[in-house]
Amino acid sequence: MNDKVSALLNEQVNKEFYSAYLYLDMANFYTGKGLDGFANWYEIQAKEEQDHAMLMYQYLHNNGEKVTLEAIAKPDKVFGTLMDPLAAGLEHERYVTSLINTIYEAAQEAKDFRTTQFLDWFIKEQGEEEKNSMDLITKMELFGNDPRSLYLLNNELAARTYSAPSLVL
Ligand code: FEO
Repeated sequence: MNDKVSALLNEQVNKEFYSAYLYLDMANFYTGKGLDGFANWYEIQAKEEQDHAMLMYQYLHNNGEKVTLEAIAKPDKVFGTLMDPLAAGLEHERYVTSLINTIYEAAQEAKDFRTTQFLDWFIKEQGEEEKNSMDLITKMELFGNDPRSLYLLNNELAARTYSAPSLVL
């Protein structure tokens, strides 16, 4: 594999684990606020991020590349209002989209079409992740200021269930 592509994928393993840690901190925040549905939503989000990391980890190994596991940074966002994690989540997903795009570009430059095909799933996934983040913000804007509506929204988010990624390596 091209050295740059391999290094970027290796960095992304770390960044996906960081994403998991960031989302777990959001779940942590909502648990502290008594909003177990919001917490559930972000706990599942954290699991999905671990899946993303492991898919990249496995892909690198499948291609004979070494993986280096680095320290995972401390989640650095400070949350005050109930909207703060939602806004931070969207900002973070947009950042992750830019990271995936950068790896995709490097793979294209290296004519590494196996990796571009692997990353196609992530390109699509990022579209979903950004949409989910935007939808949550819209719902909070609409319903967040009314306690009864917030209660119902919390119940809706409590119903989210985890399912393993559809990508098979
Ligand atoms: Fe791994 Fe939320 O993107």
